[in-house]
Amino acid sequence: MTQSPTPIHEAVREHYAERAKTSSSCCGPSTLYDPALITDIPTEVASFTLGCGDPITVAALQPGETVLDLGSGGGLDCFLAAKQVGPAGRVIGVDMTPEMLAKARANAVKLNAANVEFREGYLENLPVAEASVDVVISNCVINLSPDKPQVFREIFRVLKPGGRVSVSDIVTHGPMNPLVAKGLEEWAACVAGALDMADYTRGLTEAGFTDVLVRPKDNVNQVVAALPVGVPFSATVTGRKP
Ligand SMILES: C[S@@+](CC[C@H](N)C(=O)[O-])C[C@H]1O[C@@H](n2cnc3c(N)ncnc32)[C@H](O)[C@@H]1O
Repeated sequence: MTQSPTPIHEAVREHYAERAKTSSSCCGPSTLYDPALITDIPTEVASFTLGCGDPITVAALQPGETVLDLGSGGGLDCFLAAKQVGPAGRVIGVDMTPEMLAKARANAVKLNAANVEFREGYLENLPVAEASVDVVISNCVINLSPDKPQVFREIFRVLKPGGRVSVSDIVTHGPMNPLVAKGLEEWAACVAGALDMADYTRGLTEAGFTDVLVRPKDNVNQVVAALPVGVPFSATVTGRKP
């Protein structure tokens, strides 16, 4: 990081260190992924997800591609991506929480996942070379960052020209309802840091991305105006580096 970690980073790290130690998942994988996708992943690995969508299917990964997962947690999306890119491809997971990295690395050994590595680092200062990645994925993490424009710039930096973004994240339609508490606990729980979907689109566009789309996860054709205002929901975010 160019600056020191903020109180938000510290609160988020503490929250997810505890989740890693207790293996407490937020939701069964079957609520997020097509069962066919996770069928050959051992239950103890597949059942630890803290995501809010399925960025893998949306990414349409190809054999040989290099994939970067932002906030890789226990590593489930990395392992799913690794199967799809195959031995000629590779997957890098980045996370700032040592307890999560330990869990992900242990899972990689269990799965014998030779084309996956986990690196300690921040979304705002990725430990990844510029123009080295084909696809950036992320599952319920960018909302946790206190500096989203910097995250968008970092994604742009590490992607190759023509590279793409496939992200599941929590957003709002319109400004967050003022009744939603904005404390560090609510931030770490993926609520208080959610961006308005219009700001998400603007932020990625300002970072240089084209074809930016932010859509409700479960109903991509839902008319945006019909969405409840200021209520956090799960969205699918896509875009491309020209
Ligand atoms: C909600 S969990 C999601 C984990 C994983 N993507 C999944 O789907 O299960 C958020 C993860 O992102 C990491 N994280 C949050 N903010 C981060 C940041 N600014 N830089 C690096 N990692 C971060 C946390 O340590 C945690 O492992």
